Formats: sequence, structure tokens, C-alpha cells
Amino acid sequence: QTTLRHDIELPNNIPKLLMEKHANYLISYGTNKDEYNYSQTEHMRMSGIYWGLTALDLMGKLEQTNKEEVLEFIGQCQSDSGGISASIQHDPHLLYTLSAVQILCMYDALDVINVDKVVSYVKERQQADGSFVGDQWGEVDVRFSFCAVATLSLLNRLDAIDVEKAVQFVLKCMNFDGGFGSKPGSESHAGLIYCCVGLLSITGHLHLIDADRLGWWLCERQLPSGGLNGRPEKLPDVCYSWWVLSALTILGRLHWIDKKGLVDYILICQDVETGGFSDRPGDMVDPFHTLFGLTALSLLDKNFSLKPINPTYCMPEYIIDRLGLKPSRLD
Ligand code: FPP
Ligand code: ZN
Repeated sequence: QTTLRHDIELPNNIPKLLMEKHANYLISYGTNKDEYNYSQTEHMRMSGIYWGLTALDLMGKLEQTNKEEVLEFIGQCQSDSGGISASIQHDPHLLYTLSAVQILCMYDALDVINVDKVVSYVKERQQADGSFVGDQWGEVDVRFSFCAVATLSLLNRLDAIDVEKAVQFVLKCMNFDGGFGSKPGSESHAGLIYCCVGLLSITGHLHLIDADRLGWWLCERQLPSGGLNGRPEKLPDVCYSWWVLSALTILGRLHWIDKKGLVDYILICQDVETGGFSDRPGDMVDPFHTLFGLTALSLLDKNFSLKPINPTYCMPEYIIDRLGLKPSRLD
């Protein structure tokens, strides 16, 4: 008998959280610059650095990172337009502008960039309907709405854009199932739900969400293996542990999922030899899934001794406190 299964089988023994291995994996990922994997990810280097540093900070290892080198790199990535690029001499983009600002907030070093120019770069990306394009080429996506609003709020400069219009655009991306897609009429997707819920959390508009309906859609992402997918009929993936759990936490409905099942799924996605997490058991690890494995574990159980993560900004909570930010949540 053959059945079509959109899930995976779990092995019997579940490793514990291998904190030292993950720290070593992330630190050497940034040091072995001539490795193939490193050179293949240059087009998203700034976000890669943000993923690695955030993960290391959650494990209490931010001091072991090369702060001076990172700050110099970020300074070199700000273009005349004010926007920040993924790597030196690449084109600026809202995605990497947010990652750079997140890193500078963690390192408490916003003075290495021209903040006023970042603000005007972000402001210029807003369209008449309130949406944002990611760069000068003009693709609209709620991911860029989130990047714009998160960046400006970290800089305490939300007044530079039309926040009400930004909110109105996000609401147009809401679907009948309670979820959100990348633009009006697009299918619901957990990653985009994080962006929209995060934006509404920052701007204080969470009451406009049907939290029960969306919470239910998010819980339905959990599969029998315990892992979460990002859309119906898709395989589980560790990064969706973050996109789904962050939104559920903001909505005050984290207890709606089976925590034990998800913790086990995430722990099984560790590579016990090299350190790091992969999307599914046995796949190649990478810094992206390593961050989101750790952030999800931080939300799920404080006994892992990870620092608390802020569900709205995906940054350590103590940094958000230090900045005096209070993104809203439902209870
Ligand atoms: C899935 O991506 C995830 C998303 C679409 C959300 C991305 C969110 C941002 C860029 C905002 C900034 C993020 C943080 C953490 C501060 P995918 O391309 O893997 O989707 P797929 O699984 O459908 O391929
Ligand atoms: Zn993934």
C-alpha cells in the first residue's frame, strides 16, 4: 500500500541541545572565508552575519565574534543612496538594510553608518498605496513592508513614513483563512504571516487581526512528526518553527501547539558531528536554519539556557529592552 506522505519519520534517539558545537560551527563559518559554502552566499552576506551573530548572542557568545571586522564591513556596504547592501559593491536593498541595522543595534554601534541617509532610503521605497518595494527595481512584497517598518522603529524614526498607509496595505494582503500572502490575493504563507503580524505588532495594530482564525491556521502547520510546515501540503522545515511560533507568541497563542513534539523535531535536525541545524533531519546545516532552530527553542522552553528572543524583531530581548522598544502582543 502506498500513501502520499508530506512528512518525515523521526529516529528513536533524540540528541540534547549541542550548544558548544553550534557556537563553534557559527564562529568557524565566519572565519573560513575561502570555503565553498561561504563564497556561495555572498549575495546575502549581511543577513548571514545577522543570523550568525544573533544565534551566538542567544548562546552567550557574542564576545567571541569579530566586532571590529563586522563594523568595518557594514560601513563599506552603505551606498550613496543611504541603503545598505548584502556585500561590498552590491546594490542596496531593504532586506540587508534591516540586517545591518539589527547587527548595529546588537553591537550598540549605529554610529558606523549615516542613519539619516538610511531613513531617507527607506522612506523613498514607500509607494502611493502604502506598500514598499525592496530596491530600485521595484518588486512589491510585504517582506519589504516589514523590513522598512522594523528598520525605522529600531532607529526610532517611524515618523518618516506613512505608517497608517503601510498598515492598510498589509491588511489588503489578509486572506479568508486569517493568514497573509506576499501581496493582495496571494496565498497565505507562514513567513509572510510573520512579516505582517510583526509589522502590526510594531505599529500597535494587532487588534485588526482575527487572532483565533490565524492562530488556528498556524497550529495546523504542525505535522505528526512534530515539525511545522509553512503552507498546507508542504514538508516540515526548522525555519518554520520560527515563522510560525513567533506569530503565535505575538498573538498570545503559543500554547496551542504541541511543544514537546516540536522540540524533539528541532533537536533531531542538529548535526551532531559538525554542529548547526538543517531544515530536515539529515540535510546539510546552514546558519539560517541554525538561527531559527535556536530562536524557536528559546521561545519554547527557558530550560535550554538560551537568552530570550523577541518574537517581533527576532533579536535578543535585552537588546529590544535597551532600545526602549515595546512591540505589542495579544494575551
Ligand atoms: C520563507 O522563505 C520566509 C519568508 C518569506 C519570510 C522572510 C522574512 C523576512 C525577510 C523579514 C526579516 C526576517 C527576520 C528574521 C528579521 P523561503 O524563501 O524559505 O520560503 P519557502 O519555504 O516557501 O521556499
Ligand atoms: Zn527552511
